[in-house]
Amino acid sequence: MAEHPAYPVGLRLTGRRVVVIGGGQVAQRRLPALIAAGADVLLVSPEATPSVEAMADAGEITWERRVYTLGDLADAWYALIATGDPDANAAASAEAERRRVWCVRSDNADAATAWTPATGHSEGVTVAVLTTDAKGRDPRHTAAIRDAVVEGLRDGTLVAPHHRTRTAGVALVGGGPGDPDLITVRGRRLLAEADVVIADRLGPRDLLAELPPHVEVIDAAKIPYGRYMAQEAINNALIEHARQGKSVVRLKGGDPYVFGRGMEELQALAEAGIACTVVPGISSSISVPGAAGIPVTHRGVAHEFTVVSGHVAPDDERSLVDWPSLAKLTGTLVVLMGVDKIGKIAETLIAHGKPAGTPVALVQEGTTASQRRVDATLETVAETVRTQEVRPPAVIVIGEVVTVGPRTSA
Ligand SMILES: C[S@@+](CC[C@H](N)C(=O)[O-])C[C@H]1O[C@@H](n2cnc3c(N)ncnc32)[C@H](O)[C@@H]1O
Repeated sequence: MAEHPAYPVGLRLTGRRVVVIGGGQVAQRRLPALIAAGADVLLVSPEATPSVEAMADAGEITWERRVYTLGDLADAWYALIATGDPDANAAASAEAERRRVWCVRSDNADAATAWTPATGHSEGVTVAVLTTDAKGRDPRHTAAIRDAVVEGLRDGTLVAPHHRTRTAGVALVGGGPGDPDLITVRGRRLLAEADVVIADRLGPRDLLAELPPHVEVIDAAKIPYGRYMAQEAINNALIEHARQGKSVVRLKGGDPYVFGRGMEELQALAEAGIACTVVPGISSSISVPGAAGIPVTHRGVAHEFTVVSGHVAPDDERSLVDWPSLAKLTGTLVVLMGVDKIGKIAETLIAHGKPAGTPVALVQEGTTASQRRVDATLETVAETVRTQEVRPPAVIVIGEVVTVGPRTSA
């Protein structure tokens, strides 16, 4: 048979019978996509891996616990043959040929009438990669090409312009704690597609340097606010740029809804009738302690963690934090924006019953090249912050979890 390239096609399998012969690793890898395609899957196999068994238990496939017998492919539109028995594979594949059922064979690509491409998904598109002929088949190479394309589309390093009209609007993107690798895939893609980026001081600022020259990058802290409050001026800038038909990303540190005023911005945009999407981010409240080797919970040590803002002192009438109650909790207390007020906070916690020797860690500029960890106790923390010159941004962790990890990271 002359060697021709395979003809690529997308099978629409909803409600159509697909017969899978063999319930091992190959079936385990292929079944999720067949189920996702809505296929009516019949598995014929005396045994199956625990994952395949779970799919049968969940009613996602029908499993007949027996070996292949002639006639199994009678109603099939498509077949996957993957038993460990070459004779059974050959017999099933001969039946498929006779019945004109396209058939994939795990043991012999040459004898198969169909090949499974390496697939991945991004932005509502399926990327499928096939080698052109059986001799040149190199599954690792096709998988690597698939990964390169899908990853590139996801992280914005491969830009495929959308030809449908892009809706102007705003995306509130949580950028994570600072390390540029800790933004979400969706956040990074939106950033790569933006016309305007309005960024905070905190978050992955290194990513801004990678943006193409036509992207207007605005430092939120530098937006002039004259007769407005700073936040109002930021809201106005978002609205103004979106009204010009631009794609605007509001890049925020951590998660937009953790002390991030995300909802205020979303409400202002909604009032102005501007479409807004919110992309969650990795909050510094968990990731920064983690980066310094501190888990916010630990079995047998802390079954809860509470994240509070320390931007106003406990005796300030604007404070909404119930510090006396927090002093009674046995779990971990994570304080954001608390460096300036830590003396008062520690005093209040001790006054309401928290032991003075409770361990405290301050993690400054977590996940960045300048990350620094300073340890103290509730009793010594105010003095330690002064002598060690701890500066914002820092996450303060109070509780026994501070001492559970090996002190390797600083
Ligand atoms: C206005 S809050 C914003 C929190 C953010 N939305 C989040 O989810 O992480 C700013 C505070 O977050 C903490 N923070 C944010 N990034 C940090 C980092 N990389 N290292 C240490 N603290 C950080 C500090 O306590 C800082 O004062």
